[in-house]
Amino acid sequence: MAAFDTLDDLADGQRVLVRLDLNSPVEDGEVQDNRRFSRHAGTVAELVERDFAVALLAHQGRPGRDTFVSLDQHADILAAHLDHPVEFVADTYGEDALAAIDDLDGGDVLLLENTRMCEEELPEEEPEVKAETEFVRTLAPAFDAYVNDAYSAAHRSHASLVGFPLVMDAYAGRVMETEYEANTAIAAREFDGQVTMVVGGTKATDVIDVMSHLGEKVDDFLLGGIAGELFLRAAGYPVGFDLDPEADLYDSQWEANHDLIEEMLDERGDQITLATDLAYEDPDGERAEVAVEAVDEKDVSFLDVGTDTAEGYADVVRESEAVFVKGALGVFEDERFSVGTVTVLEAIAETDCFSVVGGGDTSRAVEMYGMSEEEFGHVSIAGGAYIRALTGADLVGVEVLERAAAR
Ligand code: 3PG
Repeated sequence: MAAFDTLDDLADGQRVLVRLDLNSPVEDGEVQDNRRFSRHAGTVAELVERDFAVALLAHQGRPGRDTFVSLDQHADILAAHLDHPVEFVADTYGEDALAAIDDLDGGDVLLLENTRMCEEELPEEEPEVKAETEFVRTLAPAFDAYVNDAYSAAHRSHASLVGFPLVMDAYAGRVMETEYEANTAIAAREFDGQVTMVVGGTKATDVIDVMSHLGEKVDDFLLGGIAGELFLRAAGYPVGFDLDPEADLYDSQWEANHDLIEEMLDERGDQITLATDLAYEDPDGERAEVAVEAVDEKDVSFLDVGTDTAEGYADVVRESEAVFVKGALGVFEDERFSVGTVTVLEAIAETDCFSVVGGGDTSRAVEMYGMSEEEFGHVSIAGGAYIRALTGADLVGVEVLERAAAR
């Protein structure tokens, strides 16, 4: 259990500064609604009901990227989820922000501008340095308490995440609490039965790092995606490299990881299950499959594990007491290549094993293919923080909440 205080420890009706993670996909300038809004709306609704005056902090994108936009649209999306007005001010800690904060009464909700538009939010520095910024020193006195609900950003040592808990009473919001508990389960809990981890996606370096940390905790890793092909390459099959010289999905990740992959296959190959067949797009645009043993030369892109592999993986899942998913087994956004990801997710949904599906993108497959979140133990809204939690690493945003509770 985490040693931080929660909303249960906070008396109603105060003025609170609340950090959310509303970082979202942006398409053609339009912020896309997603699970982060609905989850955080739960925390904010509780605060409204308990008559708190609420000012919200959040970030969007990174400077220089197309996704680095104002939070004005976020206010409308959040208001729709809450069914309650969310005022927006295009300022974070200047005069306009302070005036809007001053106007807040119990039950009011105000969203401040994108924290990353303030110079002092970035770069990553020690919490002590962030606590001294004008950002923190200006906003802190306007509130009775700080609440961090942004578990998915808690690996970042940014002012809005780590500065306030050093100078104010600080509490974990409901999303922070539930994400923390589910995502640290693999590092913190003992399971009697089989623990399985489904590993895929495009960020092979991240998942290989997770695998190398979890050798003791996981009985069976079921592989797909880019990491799956890199492991097949290490096992001697002619796959796991880029076909297009312009693309760089496989080759640099192979360079960075092949020693570790070979070592893992040597030392604990019996914990690692690789695909026996793979799927690709044939010249007619249809899904086609090939047995890994029958591949003489890679001349097509593999976009999913094959049906036999998917069914074998589903059987392993049905035998498991706990299943953790990190990354998709194929390009599930294209229905033709969703078989691996969906077959395994459906097997998890059918069984009553403890399960966590993490990594923003993979969890999208849950609703895309008509499954319900309730069928899983936990569907995480975290990406980088989920990876860190799986490897047992501490999150700086959680550490400062624990320091605040200890004071
Ligand atoms: C996320 O979307 O995973 C978090 O909000 C962190 O975003 P960042 O990787 O841009 O820091």
